[in-house]
Amino acid sequence: MGQTVTDAMVRVEDVHKSYGSGAAAVHALRGVSFEVPRGELVALKGRSGSGKTTLLNIVGGLDTPDRGRVDVEGRDLAGLDEEGLLALRRDRVGFVFQSFGLIPILSAAENVGVPLRLRGADPREREERVELLLSLVGLADHAAQRPGELSGGQQQRVAIARALANNPSLLIADEPTGQLDAETGHAVMELLRAVVRSENVTALVATHDTTLLGLADRVLELSDGQIVEH
Ligand SMILES: Nc1ncnc2c1ncn2[C@@H]1O[C@H](COP(=O)(O)OP(=O)(O)OP(=O)(O)O)[C@@H](O)[C@H]1O
Ligand SMILES: [Mg+2]
Repeated sequence: MGQTVTDAMVRVEDVHKSYGSGAAAVHALRGVSFEVPRGELVALKGRSGSGKTTLLNIVGGLDTPDRGRVDVEGRDLAGLDEEGLLALRRDRVGFVFQSFGLIPILSAAENVGVPLRLRGADPREREERVELLLSLVGLADHAAQRPGELSGGQQQRVAIARALANNPSLLIADEPTGQLDAETGHAVMELLRAVVRSENVTALVATHDTTLLGLADRVLELSDGQIVEH
């Protein structure tokens, strides 16, 4: 019972998801299956509306599929209750969004420290970890600045540092360079590529960015709620 048949970080099997019902139903995902091997950076591409965000939310435990199965680190998400999903999102998965999602009144350092506070880490451990993470993303000298005082690329670096705060095994990023110019986006993508190597995380990143598609270990394409085979 509960035996892991695969060593994949993420295993998605025949996942379906619809919004609405009857004639108005939108079939966002129509039988999606794939695996993300441990330690890999997997890019997810596809036209607007193809189901990328829906899929990322389901893999990260923010939403549930209508049908099919999702395993993260060998654990079937259907077997987790609300509390279990909360713990998964807090401790095992780091999220990075297109719009950064930083708290405006907190400094960069305080933003990075939020997940550590939520976990109840002791203040000294928190301080050390925040300092290390800000150095990792190249923002050691910007710790005291609030998001409004940082450039878009810097804000996304803070968001990446925050996503890594609790040492997640899986990083999920939804168009992390969508609001950045090409050059800044390129630097953010290289940072993601670097942290996947140095922090021992696995990443699933939805993107249209050709830079990241080139840096990824593999590229998955969604079309109309289905994975396109290449
Ligand atoms: N909460 C919702 N209610 C109704 N329909 C939704 C909802 N969320 C997504 N959809 C629909 O599901 C489909 C897939 O949406 P999704 O956001 O996953 O696409 P996407 O690939 O992330 O697109 P984009 O590149 O524009 O971000 C779309 O047709 C969308 O309109
Ligand atoms: Mg989307």
